[in-house]
This record gives sequence, C-alpha cells and structure tokens, in this order.
Amino acid sequence: MEKNWILAIESSCDETSAAVIENGEVILSNIVASQIKSHMRFGGVVPEIASRHHVEQITLIIEEAMEEANVTYEDLSAVAVTEGPGLVGALLIGVNAAKAVAFAHNLPLIAVNHMAGHIYSNKFVHSMKFPLLALVVSGGHTELVYMAEDGSYEIIGETRDDAAGEAYDKIGRVLGLPYPGGKIIDEMAHKGKDVYNFPRAMLKEDNYDFSFSGLKSSFINKVHNAEQKGEELNANDLAASFQASVIEVLVTKTLRAVKEYDVNQLLLAGGVAANKGLREALSDVMAKEAPEVELVIPPLSLCGDNAAMIGAAGFVEFNKQQFAGYDLNAKPGLLL
Ligand code: KG4
Ligand code: ZN
Repeated sequence: MEKNWILAIESSCDETSAAVIENGEVILSNIVASQIKSHMRFGGVVPEIASRHHVEQITLIIEEAMEEANVTYEDLSAVAVTEGPGLVGALLIGVNAAKAVAFAHNLPLIAVNHMAGHIYSNKFVHSMKFPLLALVVSGGHTELVYMAEDGSYEIIGETRDDAAGEAYDKIGRVLGLPYPGGKIIDEMAHKGKDVYNFPRAMLKEDNYDFSFSGLKSSFINKVHNAEQKGEELNANDLAASFQASVIEVLVTKTLRAVKEYDVNQLLLAGGVAANKGLREALSDVMAKEAPEVELVIPPLSLCGDNAAMIGAAGFVEFNKQQFAGYDLNAKPGLLL
C-alpha cells in the first residue's frame, strides 16, 4: 500500500501540537506542548496568553515533529490543521502555520474539525467499524455522535448547558483545586464514597441530551451551606459523589443509545475520556449489557488535545481529496 504522510497541527486551546501520521493510523511523531502552567494561576485558559504561547511554540513544535518522524517536507502528502471549534486567536496560529508550510512546499491543505479529531484518536487503537456511536466528552463539549460512515457525523444528543469537563473544572475551583480540576477530582473520587447523592439530571427523559449545571449548583450549595453552618465535609466524598452522578448519567444514556442504534462499536473520546471511573464504568456496563458492541477507548496520551488525532481525521478528507484553499479561516464555533 502506498504510504501517505500527513503533517498535522493542533492549536485550538492550550496545547500546541504537531504530528506526522502515516495513512491516518500510524503515529510517526506527536509532540504536545502544554501551556497549563501559564494558565493555572488564572483558574482557566486566558485566550490572549494562549495565542502568545502558540506563536512562540508553533515553529519549534512543527520542526520537532518532523525531526522525530524523520521525514522531509518533500515526503509529505498534505498538511492538516484544526480549523475549529476553539479559541479564535489560538486557532489562527495553527491555521496560518499550516498555510505557510503548505504554500512553501506546495502541499494540499486539509481543514479538520477538532471534535472529529477526538473521535478519530480511536483509530490508533482499532480500525473503525461503521455504523458506530461515539461519546465525546471534553472541556467544551459533551456529545453523542452517530457515524454511518467515515467522515459522517450525526449528533443524536448533547449537553444543554455545561460540558462534562467544564463541570469538573468549575467544581474543582470550589474545592480550591488548581485548573484544570478534572484529573485531580478523578483521583480524589477513588478515595471517597458517593454519600451526598447529587441529582442525576435528565436520566428519565426520552432523549440523549445531558445537563450538568444543576449538578454543579447542588454541589456548590452543599459546600456553601456546610461552610455557613461550620460543618466539615469530606472532600474525597464530595468528589466521589459528584463523579458518581456524572458517570451514571453519561453511561446510562450512552447505553440506551447503543441499544437503540444498530452499531458495531462505541468509541469514547475527549479529555474526560481519561477519567478512570468513566473508563471502568463504561467497560463494565458494555461487557454486561451490550457485549456484541465493541468498546474502544483511547490511551490516556491521546485523550487530551493532540495533533495525531487531527492527522487521523484529516486522512479521511485526504482520501476524498477534499482540500481547503489558502483563504481558510479559523472557525471558533464550528459544529460537527
Ligand atoms: O479534550 P480536552 O483536552 O480539551 C478540550 O477540547 O476541551 O479536554 C479537557 C478537559 C478538562 O475539562 C479537564 O478537566 C478534563 O478534560 N479532564 C478530566 C480528566 N482528565 C482531563 N476530567 C475528568 N477526569 C479526568 N481524569
Ligand atoms: Zn479537545
């Protein structure tokens, strides 16, 4: 089989990343420079700071990815880049870097949706067998996506308010944890018990939508009321109770969709796919309730933002010869 190498670039939020991917499924390099330390003291990602870091990093990261993959620009078949969704100033750095490389080396340019990228991170684990469902849970999105074939996306359910990762990060702030709180809360949850019984939103409703803002409010009320009364709450139990609610809603609704749709696979994707509790709960439920559907979960290194996943999703467009022009712009609100 002919080998096509794609240079992929991702800069939608607070990670500057470049990767070289062979035929959309083999990682030759995947360099990720995280800016988290610079944003931590502000309790969230500061868009202006993110853009400045991307500008400083992008050329170095691309060079590092090319060096590690041991390929030359002449070896490449295309340049793929995240066009959205994300922070406009951050996206623009990647888009312009990709255009510059494509123009300088006469390569086709591929525009990739960041969420499609998250879904395709699973391609490095397993080949995708359509039709399939994907549960995409990140800092900005929570979506259940039906894919009839490569590159086709139908959102069958999504969050009505906060994304799952956003809820984690917001309650992390209430607990006085550094940003982003998701990973730490996951660790704390494993040392605590679900004793506070937070609400499980929209569980009984006949749709695949989610809501996490009510849970967040209950959590905040619980903590504030206890503070006012001078009561001590166990932080690990709070984390465990919050996490139990998030997982129960995500897993129950996803399983319902798996049973309703005739699919071959369920893919988990996005930053929150790194959650140990979610990975375990989904694996258990799928093994018991839908053993005929294959569950695919990306390794931890590919759950968060990275350019490898952009190279995998970009390869689908490459095969269709669907290329972008040099007028490609960042699309901060891009939908799947
Ligand atoms: O996909 P991602 O890297 O960036 C976006 O596209 O949003 O996701 C980042 C989100 C953050 O909200 C972070 O707190 C959350 O993923 N996250 C976790 C865990 N690791 C990262 N949430 C829960 N448990 C984790 N282990
Ligand atoms: Zn992401």
